[in-house]
Amino acid sequence: MSTTNRSITLNSDVKMPALGLGVFLSPAEQTAGIVSTAIQHGYRLVDTAAAYLNERAVGEGIRNSGVPRSELFITTKLWPGQYGYDDAMRGFEGSLSRLGLNYIDLYLLHWPVPTDFAATIQSYRAIEKLRADGRIRAIGVCNFMPQHLQKLQEETGLVPALNQIELNPFYTQPETLAENARLGIVTQAWAPIGGTYLRNRNAVTNGSDSPLTHPLVIELARKYGKTPAQIVIRWHLDHGFSAIPKSVRSERIIENFDVFDFTLTPEEIARIDALNTGVRAGADPETFTAATYPINVDAQ
Ligand SMILES: NC(=O)c1ccc[n+]([C@@H]2O[C@H](COP(=O)([O-])OP(=O)(O)OC[C@H]3O[C@@H](n4cnc5c(N)ncnc54)[C@H](OP(=O)(O)O)[C@@H]3O)[C@@H](O)[C@H]2O)c1
Repeated sequence: MSTTNRSITLNSDVKMPALGLGVFLSPAEQTAGIVSTAIQHGYRLVDTAAAYLNERAVGEGIRNSGVPRSELFITTKLWPGQYGYDDAMRGFEGSLSRLGLNYIDLYLLHWPVPTDFAATIQSYRAIEKLRADGRIRAIGVCNFMPQHLQKLQEETGLVPALNQIELNPFYTQPETLAENARLGIVTQAWAPIGGTYLRNRNAVTNGSDSPLTHPLVIELARKYGKTPAQIVIRWHLDHGFSAIPKSVRSERIIENFDVFDFTLTPEEIARIDALNTGVRAGADPETFTAATYPINVDAQ
């Protein structure tokens, strides 16, 4: 049993902590404090995006944390509104400057844009150039389904280091997990504890509002003397996924990291796997465009 945050080796040989902090919907004015608190309590991975409009605050939190930059693993993402080779280059420079950093550990395409996949490919080529130039340590994608990964590989010959996807006990994406595994791509879970179910009350669930209130998760929380969030985070880690739960509350940030003193049994993992509804609660990658969420990342 590991008592520390396991590290995952990406296909570029870069090591990444398995568990990190997400900051989607963390208000910019709270984010610097949240990031410092998380780092001071052991987190080393922070996941932001140009579209979260809080990269400046993430950078401030990093600088205030007192932990050397070299010990941290910072992820940010290129928004589809900045896809295309030249726009991607500009998008990257914007993120780097807002974060106040001189390199990014992991840079991700935020969504595939299947209706204009040529622009997605051009953006990937741009960030591959940035990686070759040493400005990004590893590159990856988010929300790519198997067909998007295959098309990317066909057109570029490249395999991303990581695919960050909507993943929690109510939505387990077995086909994408299998394709990630086949290609040696690390799976990272967004909405790992079911944040989508709090935002989308019309989502299809499995008998309770969210994975955190499901009777099975509560039963396991009682058994291990842990909270429902800790059980679900442990389920990700026991599967070998990376997970980036978000919270703006210090006590939850600490709670979500206190998961390294127990493991679930294979039977318990399988029982949680069986909660999959097969229905996503977030946006559909197949129809995604920059207009799905009209965010002006240039205006920040
Ligand atoms: N690539 C993508 O397209 C994409 C999309 C969405 C998210 N993401 C990334 O993934 C990260 C995580 O996903 P997410 O924010 O959607 O969802 P999440 O981490 O599954 O859930 C976050 C929600 O759970 C609450 N929460 C946190 N810890 C808790 C605990 N211990 N007990 C009970 N409730 C708790 C939070 O509220 P409080 O903040 O009030 O504690 C928040 O409402 C994001 O922050 C972002 O970095 C990526």
